[in-house]
Amino acid sequence: MQSLASLLSARVEAAAGIDPEMRPATKPQFGHFQTNVALRLAKPQGRPPREVAADLVERIDLADLCEPLEIAGPGFINLRIKPEVLARAASDLLADPHTGIDQAAQPQRIVLDYSSPNVAKQMHVGHLRTTIIGDCFNRVLTATGNTVIPQNHIGDWGRQFGMLIEQALDEALDLSALDLAGAEALYKRANARLSSDEGFADRARERVVALQAGDEETLAIWRRLIEVSKVGFNEAYDRLGVLLTDADIAGESLYNPMLEAVCDDLESRGIAKMDDGALVVFVDGFDAPAILRNRHGGYGYDVTDVAAQKYRVEQLHADRIIYVTDARQRHHFELVFAVARKAGYVPEGVSTEHVGYGMVLGADGKPFSTREGTAAYLIDLLDAAEEHVTRPVALAAIKYADLSSQLQKDYVFDPVRMTATTGDTGPYLQYAHARANQILRRAEAEGIAWESITVLTEPAEQNLALLLSRFGEVIVGVASDLQPHKLATYLFDLATAMSVFYEQCPVLKSEGEVRASRLALCATTKKVLATGLNLLGIEAPDQM
Ligand code: ARG
Repeated sequence: MQSLASLLSARVEAAAGIDPEMRPATKPQFGHFQTNVALRLAKPQGRPPREVAADLVERIDLADLCEPLEIAGPGFINLRIKPEVLARAASDLLADPHTGIDQAAQPQRIVLDYSSPNVAKQMHVGHLRTTIIGDCFNRVLTATGNTVIPQNHIGDWGRQFGMLIEQALDEALDLSALDLAGAEALYKRANARLSSDEGFADRARERVVALQAGDEETLAIWRRLIEVSKVGFNEAYDRLGVLLTDADIAGESLYNPMLEAVCDDLESRGIAKMDDGALVVFVDGFDAPAILRNRHGGYGYDVTDVAAQKYRVEQLHADRIIYVTDARQRHHFELVFAVARKAGYVPEGVSTEHVGYGMVLGADGKPFSTREGTAAYLIDLLDAAEEHVTRPVALAAIKYADLSSQLQKDYVFDPVRMTATTGDTGPYLQYAHARANQILRRAEAEGIAWESITVLTEPAEQNLALLLSRFGEVIVGVASDLQPHKLATYLFDLATAMSVFYEQCPVLKSEGEVRASRLALCATTKKVLATGLNLLGIEAPDQM
């Protein structure tokens, strides 16, 4: 379904020859949309802008959609959509299974790397953000007609397993009774011993060699540690209500068998060089090289991410690859993206994007992760929010707080503020949805029938319908620029417009066609709120 805005844009562009950069009008008296296209054309033509505007207004073919166009101020063109056109555009959303969201003309296969916690460590506040943001991307990219391939790049390989396995053997630990918290405690005990006990450090190193060589006893413990961790991760995912499942796990160990070949390939083609005993790739514009293999012959995070990109292009047939991590990993990703391009592993037509997010701060403005004794685990944050409200509301609060400001910014985890039912919060949007539902149920109980939006005389009705008609383009925008706060802002504006509408336009107390049309407007608003919240990963309960 083509959005009204893009339809108007196309028609104006046909007359003007350039993109009109249509914007929503800033005040109701300016109509619904405004363009400064005449001002931009006037300059090179050396003509007065109002004259250019008058010319354009003559030629723009919009009589079927708009009231007569108006010229304002220095030469702006104001567009006011006919109420019946607006009514139809909003009504169409109700019947459309995609709620007005355009389906990609060329659907892409999108690899989405998110969550990605580490084995034998509980999920941290940072993992809360990547999990929530990635879940939202997953939903939005799917809703726009693409195929999303989530990849949970868990840290299930590396040198830390040497000490973990050695410590478990030393302690004759009962692995069948281990859980994730227990695995993390084991990690801490092993780590503490590493610096004080040289013999242990040596044995840990040998254990890494045994793991790499495929020693069965070693592998069995390694597998068990992963199993236990997965159980813990899944508990967190269940609690968060996100889409990730075990089928999405593609951890670092998956790429381990590919690393040697990647190194050989890059070395033989002269892309990688030996430097001080390590195999590295220098990339223009970067201070330090990417390390493929260190001086001891070990493989690390960089080369794994190079191999992963190759795999995602060749095996998963990705058209677009998106990574969601802490903003502090930006440099790592820029470097490994550049290496994979240089190697030709990621062809020109495939994009690689890193979405970095800011830190979660406590109410005192300090990062959670560095504070002693306070919640730094994801589970503790969920508990903190649930002290104030029920679980669905707590989740709405957390997810909305996370997604409603620009991702790059740090955000303050303030359970009191974010669970409030007024203001720009998740629970406020849930209430707006429940309120629309309540009116519809009451109408149903009173046997009042309604079908579609037919009357839009009041400015509050028009404003609401106009916002509704924009829903599809907002979602398509988020799918492309990966900025979910634009959806959050849109939903907040919609809920606000809905409450102005209730104030100014009685629904159940009006009569006849006006009442039926207003009920349809409520139903459309309810549907768009529910769909939008769902795309943020937030439930929209019918009652609260
Ligand atoms: N395991 C890493 C961490 O916890 C995140 C991995 C992100 N994905 C990737 N392909 N490197 O920080």
